[in-house]
Amino acid sequence: PTIYVVTPTYARLVQKAELTRLAQTFLHVPQLHWVLVEDSAHPTSLVRDFLAASGLTYTHLHILTPKDKKLQEGDPSWLKPRGAEQRNEGLRWLREMGVAAGEKSPAVENAVVYFADDDNTYSLQLFEEMRYTQRVSVWPVGLVGGMRFERPVVEGGKVVRFHTGWRPSRPFPIDMAGFAVSLRLVLANPDARFDGEAQMGYLESSFLQNLVTMEELEPKADMCTKVLVWHTRTEKPKMKREEALQKQGLGSDPAVEV
Ligand code: UGA
Ligand code: MN
Repeated sequence: PTIYVVTPTYARLVQKAELTRLAQTFLHVPQLHWVLVEDSAHPTSLVRDFLAASGLTYTHLHILTPKDKKLQEGDPSWLKPRGAEQRNEGLRWLREMGVAAGEKSPAVENAVVYFADDDNTYSLQLFEEMRYTQRVSVWPVGLVGGMRFERPVVEGGKVVRFHTGWRPSRPFPIDMAGFAVSLRLVLANPDARFDGEAQMGYLESSFLQNLVTMEELEPKADMCTKVLVWHTRTEKPKMKREEALQKQGLGSDPAVEV
């Protein structure tokens, strides 16, 4: 079955580096279709050219996060969810594609949807774990929530609670990187979407609570005992020297894409 990987992305100094790391992981995964959704009013040439040269099967989408929903410079990072509009745009495309292709088509039957942020680190094994997902599969996520890892706790083959340091009472205290959903379930629930207004930590729940119950979750990665994805975050590069040189008219050639 096909794995549709939906990735929100936005322009910044490290974007091409992040996308390169991601694409070169995905190239090792059979039957992966990358749905890359830019947070922009128009598709950018950087992303368009990058995808064309990537060797991957992909769909290039874009939708600008409205200004009132976007984190402003200086806002604390927890104030507003990131990537919500872009993931919803990915869902919109999947539903359109799914309806057009039909339930029994190879593009849809048994297909899986995974929301992969552009800065995390993904083991190849993760994709084989999620590939056979009936409804929603789950697994641990490393280096997240101020912990070594967060995970669903499995007893007798079922998820009974979540190991997390923060608001365990949330409907689904799981990071975006910690679950995959069957495309069939997405098509059967045309209203399921990410709530861009969700309060901190509730973005994942806003989507999952209309799709499954905790009892129905399918634990992967050896009953959620293995960490196969890491919530890594890339440091913002310092541009002190660049700016100093620019002031002297000696800045780097802007025609060189970084
Ligand atoms: C955590 C979660 O891992 C995210 O899945 C969740 O969306 C986010 O919190 C949240 O609170 O909304 P974090 O590392 O803090 O992740 O978020 P980022 O990696 O900065 O952003 C998540 C995704 O949205 C990335 O793929 C990023 O490229 C994209 N993004 C970010 C945009 O499309 N536009 C933005 O303005 C910022
Ligand atoms: Mn991130």
